[in-house]
Amino acid sequence: MRKPIIAGNWKMYKSVKESVKFAKQLNEKFKGIQDREIVIAPTFIATASVIDALSFSNIQVATQDAHWENEGAFTSQISPVSLQELGVKFVILGHSEKRQYDNETDARVNRKLKNVLRNGLKAIVCVGETLQERESGKMEKVISAQVNGCFEGIGLSDLINIVIAYEPVWAIGTGKNATPEQANEVHAFIRALIAKKYNKEAAEALRIQYGGSVKPENIKQLMAQPDIDGALVGGASLKVDSFEALVKF
Ligand code: PGA
Repeated sequence: MRKPIIAGNWKMYKSVKESVKFAKQLNEKFKGIQDREIVIAPTFIATASVIDALSFSNIQVATQDAHWENEGAFTSQISPVSLQELGVKFVILGHSEKRQYDNETDARVNRKLKNVLRNGLKAIVCVGETLQERESGKMEKVISAQVNGCFEGIGLSDLINIVIAYEPVWAIGTGKNATPEQANEVHAFIRALIAKKYNKEAAEALRIQYGGSVKPENIKQLMAQPDIDGALVGGASLKVDSFEALVKF
């Protein structure tokens, strides 16, 4: 059985003070929930304060990136060593906005993934096709290349610490979401890729989140699909009521 995992990606929203206040409000709402994992990904600068505000909470904190080295001459970058030290549990890697604005590549995601895992952190690895890729019939090719590139050299025993997020780029922040059936089809495709690369058992255990305009109105139908194990949510994770509704779908 795969435990549902609902994650809120706050992107570059909320100041440090706002983040702390919001995290405390969520903490009150989610007390006692054990049957699903709840993850929030504040900005880097708010991470330590949010973790402090959430001591003894069932909410796990993620960051939106981490570097592939532990230290070095990498101005402005964030080491997973510090993240682990602070109590961060997950790192989101390969988000389409990183790919689009920061030239993130599968090769870099792969190096980051290895270092995140080496530091005892878990990862949410994002993949997804653009509208043009989907419309030109390249979706499967694009997703396979992303999965193979990001997972190059990742061992079977590491899979337990990885979640994949399928986020069709055309559905992120656009209000257009994939239908539950469309999303499930790609999730099943990704699961089959993992089965081929590793084995069936590992593929069955792997959690795959859907992301892209997930809202309280569509989460139930998405989560009812057999291969959808959670959601990675941007916009609708920024308000208490809507994130509460998402987590308690
Ligand atoms: P959205 O973002 O829910 O606002 O579409 C999803 C994401 O970027 O992870």
